[in-house]
Amino acid sequence: MRRRRDRKRWPLVMVALALGLLVLGYYFYTEVRPAVIFGLRPDYAHAIPFQPVPLGLSSLRAEECGTCHQAIYEEWRSSIHAQAYTDPFFQAYWTKDNRIWICLNCHTPLENQQPTLITDIPRDRVEKAVQVHNPRYDPEYQREGVTCAACHVRNGTIFGPFGDSVAPHPTDYDPAFRTTAICYRCHNVVSGPFQFYNVGPCGTYAEYEGKYFMQQKGYICQTCHMPEVIRPAAKGGPLRHGRRHVWRGGHDPEMIRRAVAIYVQAEPLKPQPGETVTVTVTVINAGAGHKIPTGDPDRHFTVEFRVRDRDRHVLAEQVDTMGRWILWQPVIVEVYDNRLLPLASRDYQFTFTIPEGQSDLVLETQVRYHILTDGQHAMLREKYGLEADDPYRFLIYHREFPLNTQLALALEKQQLDSRLACRRQPETSAMFNPFHG
Ligand code: HEC
Ligand code: HEC
Ligand code: HEC
Ligand code: HEC
Ligand code: HEC
Repeated sequence: MRRRRDRKRWPLVMVALALGLLVLGYYFYTEVRPAVIFGLRPDYAHAIPFQPVPLGLSSLRAEECGTCHQAIYEEWRSSIHAQAYTDPFFQAYWTKDNRIWICLNCHTPLENQQPTLITDIPRDRVEKAVQVHNPRYDPEYQREGVTCAACHVRNGTIFGPFGDSVAPHPTDYDPAFRTTAICYRCHNVVSGPFQFYNVGPCGTYAEYEGKYFMQQKGYICQTCHMPEVIRPAAKGGPLRHGRRHVWRGGHDPEMIRRAVAIYVQAEPLKPQPGETVTVTVTVINAGAGHKIPTGDPDRHFTVEFRVRDRDRHVLAEQVDTMGRWILWQPVIVEVYDNRLLPLASRDYQFTFTIPEGQSDLVLETQVRYHILTDGQHAMLREKYGLEADDPYRFLIYHREFPLNTQLALALEKQQLDSRLACRRQPETSAMFNPFHG
């Protein structure tokens, strides 16, 4: 009797369990798991407070600054900072994240640029923030993304790196301009609860701190991302030691080439048909003060090997990836990170047995940089309105070697070329070049 009653209870127990799990799941997704892929830090949890126009100027707009700071304005306009809002990749991902307000605190950081004011963030949950209409919102100004005033204007004063400028607007000296503090707010996105990143999703700052280029050479972000220049800071002003406002990074193949040194070796050096040849591509982070790739966790390199016959048919292929592997659901767990620290190197190996009678095969070695994966790109196109054709992967290195007795010569030439390239343009080749010898 008793047993039978127990058996009847089973379905009830299962239903209760399922309900319990549902409630837990609901609680987890609404109260525990952050709604965005990063955590909140007090400094970027809020917009930069409303800025009035400094005395002597008629607007905060970059274009207004550009009437006197022409060169800087043109550089800024060409930079990704100026596109931090209009950037089609930002727009697509922002749409994916339901255009949540928090993104704007770095991509359009001034209150003047934001449609709503945040009055409260209950329990630090960004999706529950209390928002009210911002009467001083300027939609045109929002399109300027990380505009001049985001870094330079506070409370009617224009801050800068000089202590002695005579300007038609109030100025003040701020030592932060000559340190990394000025980049910290936005380039050190941290992780939140239940997000197990090694460093946060755009945590370049944390990768850089105290590493080689800073400790040994005193390089700061600006050393590499805002090259030094001597010119008047404003029309008609005296010559100054200033910096170009270009901030080249992952969207610029030239900049990426500067970060990496690539070196190819093979064994045996004069392979014959029937022999197995092992090719090693060494990738060195020779020119970046942080890991490569850095920043956005989608960024990655591929190191590619292809053997082609006389008709360019691919006989063998190997593609290795350098980046971070992240499990996004149900919690964020960074499973693996094989990015290169400054001055670190890694060998990628490929072996191939040359078929009998084939002495005109070619080995293609190639390194590419990817802003995002092909899958993500397709998803953004299909679901989140990405239309622009902005390139999202770049060829960083390409070289072909004959898989026959000419191989030794081709390898020697490759080494010579990288030495010459390095001597010819010490500024644009890797900052530190291991082939200087
Ligand atoms: C009417 C011309 C004019 C306009 C408009 C103007 N500036 Fe200036 N600014 C100057 C001059 C002149 C100097 C002084 C240059 C010098 O001493 O070398 C200066 C200096 C500066 C400095 C250096 C301050 C320091 O002491 O370190 C910064 C930064 C600056 N301006 C930013 C801006 C920004 C941002 C805007 C727009 C919101 C702007 N300026 C608009 C003319 C102008
Ligand atoms: C107010 C926030 C903010 C500040 C301050 C800031 N950045 Fe940025 N930065 C961004 C955002 C947002 C992007 C990405 C824009 C995009 O791709 O949509 C970016 C992009 C970049 C990139 C280009 C990356 C690429 O994909 O090509 C570099 C390099 C960079 N910043 C360097 C710096 C340096 C150096 C400083 C300090 C002098 C600095 N930034 C200060 C917000 C900021
Ligand atoms: C992401 C932050 C950032 C943005 C945005 C930015 N600047 Fe700067 N600016 C800096 C830094 C850092 C320096 C200090 C460079 C140095 O060490 O001389 C600087 C220096 C200056 C100077 C002094 C001259 C020089 O080259 O050092 C002027 C003038 C200036 N900026 C104007 C502007 C104007 C105009 C804009 C917009 C068109 C702008 N800045 C946008 C960070 C920024
Ligand atoms: C020694 C030179 C050097 C220093 C110092 C340096 N960088 Fe870079 N950075 C590079 C090079 C070269 C690249 C291009 C390689 C790449 O994109 O991975 C790069 C790439 C980047 C990118 C682009 C990532 C992407 O693909 O979107 C960002 C953002 C960035 N740096 C920010 C910073 C910040 C912030 C600092 C200071 C904390 C800094 N960098 C210090 C050389 C440097
Ligand atoms: C704390 C500052 C900060 C916040 C908040 C922030 N970002 Fe960013 N974002 C950055 C920086 C810095 C970069 C540039 C990093 C790099 O180049 O890899 C960036 C880059 C990006 C990129 C890459 C753009 C490109 O051209 O490849 C996308 C997409 C993006 N952010 C979307 C978002 C979205 C969506 C949100 C809100 C859910 C957000 N960001 C919130 C700082 C921030």
